[in-house]
Amino acid sequence: HSLLSLAERMPKAELHLHIEGSLEPELVFQLAERNQVKLAYADIDSLRAAYAFSNLQDFLDVYYAGMSVLLTEQDFFDLTWAYLTRVQQDNVVHVEIFFDPQAHLERGVGLDVQIGGIRRALEQGKRELGISFRLILSFLRHLSEDSALETLELAQPFAEQIDGFGLDSSERGHPPSKFARVFARCQQLGYKITVHAGEEGPPEYVWEALDLLKVDRIDHGNRALEDDALVRRLAADGLTLTVCPLSNLKLCVVDDLRQHPILRMLDLGLKATVNSDDPAYFGGYIGDNYRALIEHLPLTREQLYQLGRNAFEGAWLDEPSKQRHL
Ligand code: ADE
Ligand code: ZN
Repeated sequence: HSLLSLAERMPKAELHLHIEGSLEPELVFQLAERNQVKLAYADIDSLRAAYAFSNLQDFLDVYYAGMSVLLTEQDFFDLTWAYLTRVQQDNVVHVEIFFDPQAHLERGVGLDVQIGGIRRALEQGKRELGISFRLILSFLRHLSEDSALETLELAQPFAEQIDGFGLDSSERGHPPSKFARVFARCQQLGYKITVHAGEEGPPEYVWEALDLLKVDRIDHGNRALEDDALVRRLAADGLTLTVCPLSNLKLCVVDDLRQHPILRMLDLGLKATVNSDDPAYFGGYIGDNYRALIEHLPLTREQLYQLGRNAFEGAWLDEPSKQRHL
């Protein structure tokens, strides 16, 4: 299949990746032993057996349990370095990764430890693997806006090491409007903004992300397709959607990859991109996501290139760097 080999060789940008979601079961157990953390699972196989989810919350419960082994700067380095060396095999040349600081602050792990380890790996990846990067601090939407505001304050000493802000975790019942003040502050400070919207939540949440939070991108956005006016708005604004096919399948956002809406998104003029979200939990890295689309949808060569180009166009890179990739 020539499309498969084209997809493999194509230089890629990944725009939707939670670094804690790249924590493989093997590393969970290695770090648990190194840090003397007790796990609720006896071994790697029983941990993997817990990776059967019927919705977003099912997954999040396992995701937060898994990351409890991350305690030291070296842990955050090892996690990030494992991701970078893995995606280099998929010809990834640019990554924009999320981290969830509140989940680690809760365990007493400071921002200096988190950002220090992640950035040390990203800098080494840039030097040794040729992978450029952006780092996005993501607020947890199941917590209060005050907690997000506090986290933003705590992040001020690291302002230069953060490129943008995001919003993730349990979507239903936690609309973007809950975070209007904190994102207004992020925007005032000159940061880029991207929020998860329309993964499980209704089209109204995508409207709020656009109109209230003034986002630069939408993460997921699947349910925007239920609202024609919203689709027209997203297309007119040229907003990038960071779509995650295997994640959508594992979290039952779609029942079957053959019904995945990514080609419909392209037909509607939406700037969809292909991403892995939480590859350790959803059965694949970015290359696996491209492969799954090719195997289940009537993707053309032009559509494949379009998806790849959309990622560089939607990346938070300066124009000359983008042009080098396009
Ligand atoms: N955190 C990690 N992955 C997520 C997802 N797909 N949706 C919401 N929050 C997340
Ligand atoms: Zn996500």
